[in-house]
Amino acid sequence: MNDLMLKYRPQSMSEVWGNEKIKSVWDGFVKSRSFPKAILLRGGYGSGKTTLGRIMGRDIVECLPKGMCSTDGLFEYDSVGVDIEMVRRVMDIRNFHHGVIVRFFDEIHRMPEKSQEVLLKPIEESENIYFILATSNPEKVDGGIISRCAEFEVENPSFEFLTDELLKIAKLEGVQLTREEALEIVECSNGSPRKSLINLQLKINYF
Ligand SMILES: Nc1ncnc2c1ncn2[C@@H]1O[C@H](COP(=O)(O)OP(=O)(O)OP(=O)(O)O)[C@@H](O)[C@H]1O
Ligand SMILES: [Mg+2]
Repeated sequence: MNDLMLKYRPQSMSEVWGNEKIKSVWDGFVKSRSFPKAILLRGGYGSGKTTLGRIMGRDIVECLPKGMCSTDGLFEYDSVGVDIEMVRRVMDIRNFHHGVIVRFFDEIHRMPEKSQEVLLKPIEESENIYFILATSNPEKVDGGIISRCAEFEVENPSFEFLTDELLKIAKLEGVQLTREEALEIVECSNGSPRKSLINLQLKINYF
C-alpha cells in the first residue's frame, strides 16, 4: 500500500500544516540561533508532534556550532523502553562533550515515572544538551519536567485547510476527488491530519 501518511510527512517547518504561531516563534529562534533548552510538544493524536519534534531537533543541530565529538546530533527515543539506567547513560556525556546534542523523547508520558524523575536534573543543568519532549497525555508527565519546558500546543489545522491539502494530494496522486468528498473525509477524521490521510488512502485504494 502506498502510504500517504509517510510520503507526505513534512520535512521542514514550512511544510507543516497549520500551527502558524509555533512556526512563527520557531522562525525567530532559528534567525537568532537561540533555542529553549527544553521543549514540550503537546497535542491531540496525529496532530504532528513527532513530525515537529524531528524538524525542531534537526534545526537546532544545524543552527548551533558543532563540537569535535562524533556524538553530536539528534537522538530520538521511544520513551516506552527508557529505563533509569538508560537515562543515566545518555546524560553522562554532558561532562566532557562540547558540541550540541538534541535528545528527543517521544511519547514522554510512556516513560516510567522513575525514569522521568532521573531526567529532572539534566534537563535543568546540562549545558550542551537540548531536550525535546512530545506527548498526547501531559497529565502523565512529571510536573517538574513540564515546569522546566517551553510548551507548544500542537493543533489540528482548520477543516477548510485540510480539505485544500487533501485536494492537492489527490491531484499529485492522479486521483479524482471532489471538494465535497475531501471535506467528508476531513469531517469523518475529526480534523486530524493523520486520520485524514489514512482515510484518503482508504478511499483511493478501496472505493
Ligand atoms: N500538522 C501536520 N502537518 C502535516 N502533516 C501532518 C501534520 N500532523 C500530522 N501529519 C501527518 O500525519 C502523520 C503522523 O503525524 P505525527 O506522527 O507527527 O503525529 P503525532 O502527533 O506525533 O501522533 P501521536 O499522537 O500518535 O504521537 C505524519 O506523517 C503526517 O503525514
Ligand atoms: Mg507521535
